[in-house]
Amino acid sequence: MPQKRLTRIIDQVQTRLALLKEMGIAELPAEKVDPVYSALRKLREEMGDCRRCELGKTRTCIVFGEGDPKSELMFVGEAPGEDEDLSGKPFVGAAGRLLTDIIELGMKIPRRKVFIGNVLKCRPPENRDPLPEEVKECRVFLERQIGIIRPRVIVALGKHAAHLLMGGNDPISRLRGNWGEFQGIPVMPTYHPAYLLYNSSGKREVWNDIKQVLQFLEKENSR
Ligand code: URA
Repeated sequence: MPQKRLTRIIDQVQTRLALLKEMGIAELPAEKVDPVYSALRKLREEMGDCRRCELGKTRTCIVFGEGDPKSELMFVGEAPGEDEDLSGKPFVGAAGRLLTDIIELGMKIPRRKVFIGNVLKCRPPENRDPLPEEVKECRVFLERQIGIIRPRVIVALGKHAAHLLMGGNDPISRLRGNWGEFQGIPVMPTYHPAYLLYNSSGKREVWNDIKQVLQFLEKENSR
């Protein structure tokens, strides 16, 4: 960057900080100054009132994802359901409550401290499976979210997230519990919480998968 432009930017920042100080503001929240927050905010702005696929016609809200963009842990689900479509927030319905329990009661991490996203940002009508053309249009947003957040580990919830992140087409029953990788980031595939609502026996397997994630993070953090 040319020296002149750099000096101008520094001047502008100093002027802004001086004004804030004058107004009695001593600290700025991370969302205002951290490049990870602003990159994510810009990505959301780029998405706008997305109409890149047909789901733009039927959805109520875009569900961009939420949580801590600086988190070491990211969960990726399939697509918003009815509750998410109405609220604009991921995993807030029955499956979401189960996921929240896994995170908060099982992993002992406050939900707001992880990042939760989805393969699709809009609800497919009647909660049908995502169509290939919808995934094709939408995947770039998830890929860029992951590129910005760069978590240490991703949990792929269900086959759609696992296939997008790890490739292939194997059933989730075969994939779960075995580490994969997305752009160098370890991915743990497991059953989708919605599956657990009707298949209680899968809970033990999910918990085993989650324990692998916890062990991985513990090892990483003790280095
Ligand atoms: N199921 C998902 O896959 N994602 C959500 O956000 C909610 C339910």
